[in-house]
Amino acid sequence: AEQNRELKQRIAELKKERNAIILAHYYQRDEIQEIADFRGDSFLLAQKAAETDADVIVFCGVHFMGESAKILAPNKRVIIPDERAGCPMADMVNVEGLRALKAKHPNATVVTYINSSAEVKAETDICCTSSNAVKVIQSVESDEIIWVPDKNLGHYVQQFTDKKMILWEGYCNTHDMLTVKDVMDMKAQYPNAQFVVHPECRPEVVKLADFVGSTTAIIEYCKKSDCKEFIVGTEDGTGYQLRKDSPDKTFHFATKFLVCPNMKVNNLKKVAKCLETMKPEIYVPPHIADRARLSLERMLQVK
Ligand code: 13P
Ligand code: SF4
Repeated sequence: AEQNRELKQRIAELKKERNAIILAHYYQRDEIQEIADFRGDSFLLAQKAAETDADVIVFCGVHFMGESAKILAPNKRVIIPDERAGCPMADMVNVEGLRALKAKHPNATVVTYINSSAEVKAETDICCTSSNAVKVIQSVESDEIIWVPDKNLGHYVQQFTDKKMILWEGYCNTHDMLTVKDVMDMKAQYPNAQFVVHPECRPEVVKLADFVGSTTAIIEYCKKSDCKEFIVGTEDGTGYQLRKDSPDKTFHFATKFLVCPNMKVNNLKKVAKCLETMKPEIYVPPHIADRARLSLERMLQVK
């Protein structure tokens, strides 16, 4: 605790010196969420990165998030606590594979989940996050959509559109692990609880939910709901904001495996170090960033 106090003090000083802001995803460790200027889901944090006046963005999340921030704020320096914090789902799609699929479906619009590399975004018409996926799909004019990389989110979105969606076979290891049996067991144990779930979970699990949404949407829903008890089907870091907003409510995570190991790679020590050394810094080659930016900016314009 004493060490954390000192680290937090040091981070606050360095932040001032560097004119930096700290953005933290809801899946980060509590100690990081505590020091963040903004906590949020992927969409909110991308918006904050695009809007900030700070000179430096410390992005506490996984690599694609820092990269998206850099693409949206090319004149800022974007640093991350640990370069090795990647997203296995983002790594399930590469440029060659996507180009081959585009060649097969030349009239399709490519809609890409923000959980993807800059190179893949550069091959994309419009990006989306879990909070705006339905709106983004409905904004697309063509009847055919290539959807990468999350098949589970794709299944969820397909219910809201007649367009033909060609789904990439990607998934989030953490959310995809949650099974119908896990949820049914929890429901039996907590019969008065509502089940809230992230659309990265399997379709049959999503079907059991009282509410489906991004991490921010789940947090907002639980805060406003009259219900006092929830079974939560998303990453356990979300508990920080859920409990902060609703100290009188009870949150049971659906399993103890709802942990994204990559999100947990970051800690206070690494945040302090990256602010000290300004490393690792995100760099995206301009010819890729310029094309990727179009797909992200189109997403930000969808109302
Ligand atoms: P959101 O931030 O859109 O809720 O997505 C969750 C996620 O898995 C981020 O990696
Ligand atoms: Fe990727 Fe899933 Fe981790 Fe999000 S929770 S960073 S989608 S592996």
